[in-house]
Amino acid sequence: MKPDKLADGVFRVSAKIGTRDLFEGIWPLPNGVMLNSYIVRGQKKTVLVDLVKDWDGAVLAVEEQLSELDLKNTGIDYLVINHMEPDHTGAMASFVEKNPKVEILCSEKAVPLIKWFYGIEKNVRAVKDGETLDLGGKTLEFIMTPNIHWPETMMTYDIEDRILFSCDAFGSFGRYEHCFDDELSEEEKELLSGETERYFANIVSTFSSFVIRGIAKVEGHPLSIVAPSHGVVWRKEPHKIVDWYHRLATYMQGPREKEITLVWSSMYGNTAALVPSLVAGIESEQIPVHVFEVPQTHESFVLEKAWRSEGLIIGMPTYEYKMFPPMYHILDILERSHVNDRKAIRFGSYGWSGGAQKQFSEFVDLMKLDLQGCVEYQGAPTEEDKKKAYELAKSMAKAIREA
Ligand code: FEO
Repeated sequence: MKPDKLADGVFRVSAKIGTRDLFEGIWPLPNGVMLNSYIVRGQKKTVLVDLVKDWDGAVLAVEEQLSELDLKNTGIDYLVINHMEPDHTGAMASFVEKNPKVEILCSEKAVPLIKWFYGIEKNVRAVKDGETLDLGGKTLEFIMTPNIHWPETMMTYDIEDRILFSCDAFGSFGRYEHCFDDELSEEEKELLSGETERYFANIVSTFSSFVIRGIAKVEGHPLSIVAPSHGVVWRKEPHKIVDWYHRLATYMQGPREKEITLVWSSMYGNTAALVPSLVAGIESEQIPVHVFEVPQTHESFVLEKAWRSEGLIIGMPTYEYKMFPPMYHILDILERSHVNDRKAIRFGSYGWSGGAQKQFSEFVDLMKLDLQGCVEYQGAPTEEDKKKAYELAKSMAKAIREA
C-alpha cells in the first residue's frame, strides 16, 4: 500500500486487517477492518496521529508507508494518542524504541494508561482541551471528547487544512481498497453502509450521549475532511458521516426506525413454530422485520438491527427453569448496549415447568421494555397460540407504524 495524501503534508498510513480474529475479542470481522494512522508534516515539526497494533501485518504495513514519506531527515517529533485502546497503541513500545526522541501527546487521563499498558513514562505530556501545537505552517488543536470511546479519548484538528482526526468516532468496520468516500465502488458503498451501523452498534452505542456531546463540541470547527482511525476518509461529504453518527446516537432515546427485530432460539422446534405467525403479523402492517436465530447468529448482527428498531420480539424456551442460555446472553448484550425503551413481545415453549418468563421479566425491568404481551405454551403451539401471536405482532407493528 502507498500513503494516501489528504492535503499538502498530510497523509494516511494504514493497514487492512483481514484476520479471522475477533475485534475486541468479541465482534466478528467478516469484512475485515482498517487501522488508520496519519502523518501531519509542518515546516518545523512532524506528527504521527495514532498508531496500530501488531495485528495481521499492520506494523510492517505502516512502517513501509512511513518509509515512502522520506521522513529520515526530519523524523517524527510527536506521537499524538487520541485514544488508548490497544488497536491504536499496541505498537507504542516498539515505536518509542525506534524513535527515542519522540514526545507523546495525549489527554491527562491517558498518561497513567500509557504507563500501565506499556511502562512508558518518559516524554509523555498531557495536553489540555483547546490547546494548540504549532508545526510551522500547520497548527493542531486538541479537543477533549471523552467516552468516544474510552474516558481518555480526544480528537485532533488540523486548523489550516480543516481536517478532523477523530479516531474511533465516525469509524466503520470493513476493509476498503479506496481511501476516500468519493472513490468508493458501489460494492464498497454498500459494505460501508452496513459496516458503519454494525460498528456503531457494537462499539459506540453504549456511549451515545457522549457522541452527541462530542459532535456538538466539534460543530464550531469547519470540516473539509473527517479522518477516522477505522474505515474510510470523508472528504466529499464530511458532514454525512457526522450527521449519520448523530442519527445513530439518537436511537438511544428515540425516535428509531419503524422496524422490528425478531430474535429467537429453539431446542426442538416448538418455539420456532411460532415465528411464521409473528412475521406474518408484522408484514401485514408493512413494517420491515429482521429475523435472527441464535446461537446460530452472532450477537454482533442482532445488536446492529436491534439498535435501530422500535420493536423487539424475543423468543426462547424454558431451559432448566430459566431462559434458554443463548438468549440470556443476547439479552445481556442488548441491555449492556442500552437497547432500552422498545416495544416488545415475548414467546416460547416449555415442557414440565416454566421459568423463562420469570427471568425474562427481569430484563423487561432492566431494559424498560414496553411489553405488549407474551405467548407461552406447553409443548407445541396450538392454532389459538399462532392466532394470538399473529394478532399481537400485527398490533405492535401497527402501533409502530402509526407512532
Ligand atoms: Fe478503535 Fe476504541 O478503539
